[in-house]
Amino acid sequence: MRFCMPRLMPFVLLLLVWLGPVSASEAVDRGKLLSEAGVYGTFAAFTLDAEWAKEDQATRIAYLTVLRGVVEQHREKIVIDLYLMRGLSDYADLMFRVHAVELREAQNFLLDLQGSLFGRHLKAAGIMHGLTKKANYVPGLPDQMKADLKTVSEPGPRPYAIVIPISKNTDWWGLDPDKRLAMMKEHTEAALPYQKTVKRKLYHSTGLGDIDFITYFETSKLENFHSLILALEKVKEFQYVSRLGHPVLMGTAISLPEIMEILAQ
Ligand code: HEM
Repeated sequence: MRFCMPRLMPFVLLLLVWLGPVSASEAVDRGKLLSEAGVYGTFAAFTLDAEWAKEDQATRIAYLTVLRGVVEQHREKIVIDLYLMRGLSDYADLMFRVHAVELREAQNFLLDLQGSLFGRHLKAAGIMHGLTKKANYVPGLPDQMKADLKTVSEPGPRPYAIVIPISKNTDWWGLDPDKRLAMMKEHTEAALPYQKTVKRKLYHSTGLGDIDFITYFETSKLENFHSLILALEKVKEFQYVSRLGHPVLMGTAISLPEIMEILAQ
């Protein structure tokens, strides 16, 4: 059996306390923040220090309860998603994706997180910010393509999340808008066959960090995602990409109780 029940008993008891969610009226409107333009997306990846593994289970549970408190307190203003990267990435153990109308709200969350008893075991591996914007090119695409882009993506119930920072070179930004549109049409043509299984979200980052875009994907079909990247590398637009990844962040989308259970072990 994977877990030893007597050792898990304190955790099981605490889980009963943890399970009470924030009521819908207290939490921010997730659907709105994830779909609207003008929202900041922050990706904050952390490693757990060596001291974490040395803490006894009761202490880890107590610290994870503090984590839960910090997340729930801030979920009244911002949307917080969690990802487990340990085991899939040598870059970080866990990642938070935060959506906030004001970037300082994401900052306040990360300050409280890092200042908490749990946060003292965290070491920042990397923080990136981006802004959601209205589509630049979609309005200029053919009607059929616009309609195809509305196909709802189904990433599967337990998807992998992949975050890829991207920059384009100065030649791209200097191009005539019609030339850029033609290349983004090619990009869309090559990518559309994967839309069904790959959910995507784009953040504009120029000036907010060292990159131009943060691209975020969810899929349970990693082989499709691999083929999608290969397909996009063949289109002309890719010649203007000066940075793809470095790092590519991969993890599993996970709920707060799930990550608490894993980190309590
Ligand atoms: C499900 C597959 C995908 C589809 C259907 C798709 C479609 C699109 C569309 C329609 C745009 C234009 C957005 C606008 O009007 O502003 C766009 C932009 C972009 N896509 Fe994709 N894409 C896909 C996957 C990817 C992947 C895998 C990457 C790279 C890892 C990527 C990177 C980008 C970037 C960086 C932009 C912004 C380009 C710019 O504004 O210069 N896309 N994509």
